[in-house]
Amino acid sequence: MHLLSIADLTGDRIHCILNKAVEMKAEVRAGIFADVLKNKVLALVFHKPSLRTRVSFEVGMSQLGGRSVYITDQEIGIGARESIGDVARVLSRYVDGIMIRTFSHQIAVDLARAASVPVINGLTDLLHPCQILSDLLTIQEKRGDLEFLKVVYIGDGNNVANSWLNAASVLPMSLTICTVKGQEPDKKIAANAKAFAGSKVEVIYDPAEAVRDADVIYTDVWTSMGQEKERGKRRKGMTSLQVNGALLRKAPEDVIVMHCLPAHRGEEITDEVIDGPNSVVLDQAENRMHLQKAILTGLIH
Ligand code: CP
Ligand code: NVA
Repeated sequence: MHLLSIADLTGDRIHCILNKAVEMKAEVRAGIFADVLKNKVLALVFHKPSLRTRVSFEVGMSQLGGRSVYITDQEIGIGARESIGDVARVLSRYVDGIMIRTFSHQIAVDLARAASVPVINGLTDLLHPCQILSDLLTIQEKRGDLEFLKVVYIGDGNNVANSWLNAASVLPMSLTICTVKGQEPDKKIAANAKAFAGSKVEVIYDPAEAVRDADVIYTDVWTSMGQEKERGKRRKGMTSLQVNGALLRKAPEDVIVMHCLPAHRGEEITDEVIDGPNSVVLDQAENRMHLQKAILTGLIH
């Protein structure tokens, strides 16, 4: 009923969502728009900025014949002006689904617990499930079956890295997280992924070794939203993880380079790589919309 974490899904459910997204993307390309969510309304609650998540959900809802309402925390003041439970119960009387982007993951969990409509996690400090589900679609389009591919995430062990680990805990894949000491992903999430027999999961510290046989190189910012005050320190601590031309030359020639965006160009990735022939970042951004439309049609009735 909710989508808070990829770890709550089964492999079969993910394949169904991906198949639906492929179908819906082809329909958009053919100019076909079915009003399957006519008269339905999605609330978009944002405690952090967004380009992709906001626009892809808004446009996605309108392509499905529904509407969305954008709300920032200035209006609702979750937990300050009123309780999370009251926000959830009141919103549930007006709208057919709630997407929330917030800081503490617990806020999304508490909102979902009290809401009587589906809640979708549009990013928390801990997870970013819609991003990684969309990225699975991009990988499938570019390189085929994930089961036979090696995905290498190089960078901060953040919400994006954690959601990759969640994916590896339910879908067979080879996933390497390459980071620096002290920036490892969530321990429990990593342990769950390692415990899933279908996947090969490792956390290592040498980028050159990580990319040697990679099919996908994925990176994300070293300073996530909410960590801006630590940017100088984080930048210094993670320089060895930069995805640049020299590192790319150590990877197979046909490796695809992914980034969820926004990028801090010149930090975790160079212009040469993000704008280069291996990069698929704009396909990733587009696929957010197709994949989320598949999620919305499955959750909202
Ligand atoms: N990738 C992503 O979630 O982008 P936004 O922060 O712009 O929504
Ligand atoms: N890790 C980044 C992802 C942005 C889409 C952040 O949380 O800011």
